Amino acid sequence: MKRLVIGMSGATGAIYGIRLLEILSNLDIETHLVISDAAQKTIKMETPWAVDQVKAMAHTCYDNRNIGASIASGSFLTEGMVVIPCAIKTLSGIAHSYNDNLLVRAADVAIKEKRRLVIVARETPFHKGHLKLMMEAADLGATILPPVPAFYCLPQTIDDIINHLVGKVLDMFHIEHNLFYRWGSRETESAIASNEKGGDVATEKEWREGLSYNPIYSGPSTKDPLSH
Ligand SMILES: Cc1cc2nc3c(=O)[nH]c(=O)nc-3n(C[C@H](O)[C@H](O)[C@H](O)COP(=O)(O)O)c2cc1C
Repeated sequence: MKRLVIGMSGATGAIYGIRLLEILSNLDIETHLVISDAAQKTIKMETPWAVDQVKAMAHTCYDNRNIGASIASGSFLTEGMVVIPCAIKTLSGIAHSYNDNLLVRAADVAIKEKRRLVIVARETPFHKGHLKLMMEAADLGATILPPVPAFYCLPQTIDDIINHLVGKVLDMFHIEHNLFYRWGSRETESAIASNEKGGDVATEKEWREGLSYNPIYSGPSTKDPLSH
């Protein structure tokens, strides 16, 4: 079974990390999660999820202070890591190997073991120091994948925008999904053709039905988050 490390830090966009966990919890992927203190705040501030509900979606969740956890060692084999979302502070830690918490240490491990590290860096606007940090992380082998929406796939809802970003992250690990239609797909081509003629994509029921994201997952389920 594939193992993926997921770090959530305190940039806005906690929902991106939550959506990734939701999707992966329905796939044959073992998720190893670490959440920074600031991300615990943004989860509470920005989403209807409780932190424990988010933690419960992961196979294993670690305390960010536990720098002796399995994911702190390269001998613990994984496919790599996603930092989603990634605040500038955590980006800075990663770019400079300032490994004083588990999240940053796990990212450093991904780099040193030459595993895929995807950084969903989020700030706007960026000053030159932020851009330099992204350059430094990219030079070390990380992929900078900022949460920048695309409109060629005709997003109709905020969920569509979130799913596009999460789908792009899954693509980096060759994890199959149909969270969005790809450029050149029959669905995109016909929806764009309809749009060009002044049609309403949102009414194209068939177009939406092909997408895999199940709206029952759009908020926390009402069952006990710690029951599984
Ligand atoms: C609601 C909220 C939104 C934030 N958004 C961002 C952001 O988009 N990017 C960023 O770099 N920091 C953002 N911050 C500030 C970080 O949370 C803060 O710098 C924190 O120390 C980051 O710590 P961490 O990297 O350990 O998670 C935000 C804070 C809050 C409360």
